[in-house]
Amino acid sequence: MREETANVVELSRKIKELKEKRKAVILAHFYQRPEVQDVADFVGDSLQLARQAADTDAEVIVFCGVYFMAESAKILSPEKIVLLPEAEAGCPLADMASAPAVRAKKEEIPDCLVVAYVNSSAAVKAESDVCCTSANAPKVVSSLPSERPVLFVPDRNLGDYVSRQTGRALIPWDGYCHVHDCLTAAEIETARAAHPEAAVVVHPESPPEVIELADHVASTGGMIKYAGSAPASSFIIGTEQGLLYPLQKACPNKSFYPAASHMICPSMKLTTLEKVKRVLEDLAPRIEVAPEIRDRARKALTRMLELS
Ligand code: 13P
Ligand code: SF4
Repeated sequence: MREETANVVELSRKIKELKEKRKAVILAHFYQRPEVQDVADFVGDSLQLARQAADTDAEVIVFCGVYFMAESAKILSPEKIVLLPEAEAGCPLADMASAPAVRAKKEEIPDCLVVAYVNSSAAVKAESDVCCTSANAPKVVSSLPSERPVLFVPDRNLGDYVSRQTGRALIPWDGYCHVHDCLTAAEIETARAAHPEAAVVVHPESPPEVIELADHVASTGGMIKYAGSAPASSFIIGTEQGLLYPLQKACPNKSFYPAASHMICPSMKLTTLEKVKRVLEDLAPRIEVAPEIRDRARKALTRMLELS
């Protein structure tokens, strides 16, 4: 996955130079390639990155992640230039809910509130009352009036997990993340047999039977926090493998094992240093969100940020 070392050094130097010239900040998700994480000013989970995007005073945001994350940055900082180094870096989960389909469901359940996981399009966020990430979903759902039905889009596994955590029935959407939904209980058992001393940590996008077997369930940022504070010295990690790099950096004396070798998100790996350099040179491709969608989506995102 890593680019050639000499190339990495030269590209990183060039990116640093361009970043200063453009008054840019580079934000990267934990699933990005190691060398991309290394040039970023801030590496985080979806919630931490949304906060950074809302608070930065840079003029340009280079978002090393997937489309919905860069779109959220633009919604929260509409006056800034937001660049996505790879325009094709989408999230298949986000594509599983469309705004017309959410509107149709809302009409079926007239009094319902809609919670949109941030892994959704701006148009879906605009249809929702509040957003959530995997780091704050139970808190967001618990804040809603108990007499109102709640439609949770688009991740069915996260919805199920939140429902168990809060004791609140949710109307699920049938979306899933192909990276996490494929993790099986048998794979967790195999990994545990190979590393019986290790704590099992999984992402809430995993299927319920996998969550059932875990010692801890958390967002990517939550996993890093847990690894640092838990007494265990080794961990089986049930999320996209990009997280192993920041985990090892944060806890150099602990050991981390992937729960399964297939947990790689192709979209997250599309961003390379070459592409980061190119967007900083070209100031394109830029993320744009139509004002009528942006303003409604912003309400839902801001409400989430105020709650957590
Ligand atoms: P986090 O918010 O936990 O980083 O998750 C993002 C994501 O895309 C999970 O697949
Ligand atoms: Fe989307 Fe899953 Fe990739 Fe995250 S890991 S960006 S939810 S496809």
